[in-house]
Amino acid sequence: MKDEYNKIEAILYDLSSKNKKDDILFYLKYAKASGGEVLELGCGTGRVSIPLIEQGVKVTAIDSSQNMIRVLREKVRNLENRKYIKIIRGDLTKIKLNKKFNLIIMPFRVFQCLSNVNEQQEALSNIKRHLTPNGLLIFDIYYPNLKILSNIPSQEEIDCEFILRNKRIVKSHVNRGIDISNQTVTTDIIYYECFRGKKKIISRNAVKTRYSFRFEVEHLLKLNGFFIKQLLSDYKSQKFVVGKEMVFVCGRR
Ligand SMILES: C[S@@+](CC[C@H](N)C(=O)[O-])C[C@H]1O[C@@H](n2cnc3c(N)ncnc32)[C@H](O)[C@@H]1O
Repeated sequence: MKDEYNKIEAILYDLSSKNKKDDILFYLKYAKASGGEVLELGCGTGRVSIPLIEQGVKVTAIDSSQNMIRVLREKVRNLENRKYIKIIRGDLTKIKLNKKFNLIIMPFRVFQCLSNVNEQQEALSNIKRHLTPNGLLIFDIYYPNLKILSNIPSQEEIDCEFILRNKRIVKSHVNRGIDISNQTVTTDIIYYECFRGKKKIISRNAVKTRYSFRFEVEHLLKLNGFFIKQLLSDYKSQKFVVGKEMVFVCGRR
């Protein structure tokens, strides 16, 4: 099973995504309304699943990355509500769990890690197998506008910086190339350690993600037995507007 995150990236993931909080209350609201256990696919280090279990929601958390799962297990180890989470390393396109869920979520563009249409279809049919008849699937992807696509390859851009053990860590990314026929973008994720005026690369990892257009996803969902209850542009339930995030809230047909 592929592990797209190396050890350093997994350890630094929480610090580098500490400003990404806008979706947590949104998923919590749906989780509480679902009245049962939630399945999170591509849970990473538990950015969303931990706040859910802290509020008493049961979660089955799946991720293919050994390194991300290791960080998640470590974080959960001393939590009072650790009994509410079941953590499994697995591929979301293939994993078989002997139960169904009222809510399945894939927060923070996990769907874009599926790098071709086959994988996307396998994922959707596997999700359908694990969803109760009235259950909901919720996931988000970015809106691939022409401004973004025409600017690839791009210049290196700094995403964030933070302090770890007295050293300044800088995270940046550079979009190296676009494969238009397969709708994929290869991005280098780079971490630097800065100390006493010197800058050293501590991790550089190339990640391939797939961008999808609005109606492509709508057709894909229909083809695989889902209907779209709502298409939102953010986690405050703003209706879809061109250019923003696309958050799909889907039911089973
Ligand atoms: C951008 S991170 C999002 C993590 C988390 N959902 C969050 O909101 O912080 C994408 C995650 O999806 C996982 N992932 C990618 N492809 C996967 C697959 N086929 N099966 C399971 N997990 C996968 C990666 O390992 C990574 O942890």
